[in-house]
Amino acid sequence: MPLNIVVGITGGIAAYKAVGVVRALVLAGHDVHVVPTEGALRFVGKPTLEAISRNPVHTDLYEGVAEVRHVAIGQAADLIVIAPATANAIAKLAAGLADDLLGNTVLASEAPIVIAPAMHTEMWANAATQANVATLRARGVTVVGPAVGQLTGADSGPGRMEEPEAIVAAALAVVDARVAGDPGRDAPATGDLAGRRVVVTAGGTREPLDPVRFLGNRSSGKQGIALAEAARARGAEVTLIAANLEVADPAGCDIRRVSTALELRDALRAAVAGADVVVMAAAVADYRPAAVSESKIKKDQSDAGLTLELVRNPDILAELGAAPHDGTLLVGFAAETESDADRLLELGRAKRRAKRADLLVVNRVGWHAGFAADDNDVVVIGRDDRIVTEVRGTKSSVAHGIMDVVVSELGTAADGAASTR
Ligand code: CTP
Repeated sequence: MPLNIVVGITGGIAAYKAVGVVRALVLAGHDVHVVPTEGALRFVGKPTLEAISRNPVHTDLYEGVAEVRHVAIGQAADLIVIAPATANAIAKLAAGLADDLLGNTVLASEAPIVIAPAMHTEMWANAATQANVATLRARGVTVVGPAVGQLTGADSGPGRMEEPEAIVAAALAVVDARVAGDPGRDAPATGDLAGRRVVVTAGGTREPLDPVRFLGNRSSGKQGIALAEAARARGAEVTLIAANLEVADPAGCDIRRVSTALELRDALRAAVAGADVVVMAAAVADYRPAAVSESKIKKDQSDAGLTLELVRNPDILAELGAAPHDGTLLVGFAAETESDADRLLELGRAKRRAKRADLLVVNRVGWHAGFAADDNDVVVIGRDDRIVTEVRGTKSSVAHGIMDVVVSELGTAADGAASTR
């Protein structure tokens, strides 16, 4: 069914990529009305937006007053997508300002809102921006990205606008969830993790050697995805930091894609503010090549071997554990090949202490167990080295077993009522 979609464009360099969002929505058969801010029109021209959207484009609050345009556009909308959403635009949305046509459109609308933030890393990490984003999330706004990568200048980090296809997919999924009666992000969720924000890392990092090769590991991401799905099903708002997943994306989660350990660390730092729980299910490379070759490494014509120099990656979980993280429950994983059960537990206990995690999930991996399998067998170690639970079964039942422990650690009432931090 064609939707009436408002695409708000605010004034950042990523505005040029918003043309791709408009185009994809139009090609999918939707009726798209673009509402750029004055700032956005400094980056992309009105004729471009009119041609691509196939509709007139308005910005001025004082045009079209006879048709009460400042409320009509919002009232007719089935969905509002704001891409890029600058730090300033996010602050204005959080405050409910209506000093331009986009602000009025948003306030006059009951449609779900999806925003794709884009800004420099420091601006995204700033406490003011994070508080504004948390306010919007609490109101049911879906936040897509930002992605981690090269920014406008020489710098890189979290802050890049997500790619247009990812924004369009996330935006249309929000409408589908509404139509299907899923509470999604636009109604208060129920469940014993309702009102909680859970960040899950999943998959395995890849450390590039040259343009065609990397050092990786055998993690498929299945257990991490199952954890994200379990948290979502129990009412949490879930951010999934996905490293090279070999399985389909879970529904209803805010997904941030990364590849290397350093990218995962950046994405986690951006996502962790205000999180109630961080679950480190990703298999993170402990080492990366000291240098990445710009061109494919050619083999030596002699029969000599090749020695690679590796440098240590940061221990991301240990960094989180060492930093103040008041109110954020840290759940780590331990992948071990030890076959002796007691020795395995000892390794898990030592790992939990070293990384200062609140809970540590120990699972045995080997050539055949753990990584790509559909089943898993884990022991969860709590503070004071006690075994909190042991779960065996499908990765989904293991995920729910782990979430049971998370819920009791958070002290959430078992009746499913949302609790406050
Ligand atoms: N981890 C991390 N950063 C790393 C390595 C691991 O945050 N550089 C996290 C993993 O996501 C997991 C936990 O630490 O939650 C344990 O990972 P594991 O690979 O079992 O342990 P390592 O710290 O790599 O220790 P070792 O390989 O020496 O057993």
